[in-house]
Amino acid sequence: MIKVAPSILSADPANLMGDINKVEGADYLHVDVMDGSFVPNLSFGLNTVVGLSKNTDIKLDVHLMIQNPENYVEQFVKAGASIVGVHVESTQHIARAIQIIKNAGAQAEVVINPGTPLTELEELLPEVDQVLIMSVNPGFGGQKFLESSISKVKRLSALRQARGLEFDIEIDGGISDKNVKAVYDAGVDVAVAGSYVFGAEDYSKQVQLLKDLTK
Ligand code: DX5
Ligand code: ZN
Repeated sequence: MIKVAPSILSADPANLMGDINKVEGADYLHVDVMDGSFVPNLSFGLNTVVGLSKNTDIKLDVHLMIQNPENYVEQFVKAGASIVGVHVESTQHIARAIQIIKNAGAQAEVVINPGTPLTELEELLPEVDQVLIMSVNPGFGGQKFLESSISKVKRLSALRQARGLEFDIEIDGGISDKNVKAVYDAGVDVAVAGSYVFGAEDYSKQVQLLKDLTK
């Protein structure tokens, strides 16, 4: 069964905890951090992660869409993140960023944009706990799922097996009941879902639907 990480980018920003308390069955909460430079949008920051970690027991899966994340990752771990994701495209020092996350005691994740080839992260695979394949161009919720990401997941999953590695594969962007089975069959362990969960009436039902489709 797939793990589901609801993305609070699509929740009510003025009532985040109210919305989070209505979600049952989430494996992680996905927190999108944007700096207006790496992506053309602004969202949550460190203080949101501090506040969330005090108010929920759900593990925080923090997706950093910021330039030079190595300068901030330690602070995000201290703020309460369980998983910290850094984009290969966002820094000259991706290996350093991963090392700092692990030394600070969290799980390290490397993230890759739709236009970036898998070869960019091959060297990092033995070092990470999770790889996040973006299935939309990052920056906004509610975008259309890019079908090319399925073949990328399949190739990553084959690499994982060939090299005997155990990282989880996460996918982010445009996930719904229409594509969750296909991404799960391709090798995805964790699906991020923003608008599919928080755009509906019953958030918990949406999470359960994604899980039921991958039983
Ligand atoms: C996009 C974010 C996603 C976003 C997904 O840059 O990384 O996490 O919230 O939203 P949906 O599921 O609506 O595509
Ligand atoms: Zn995200």
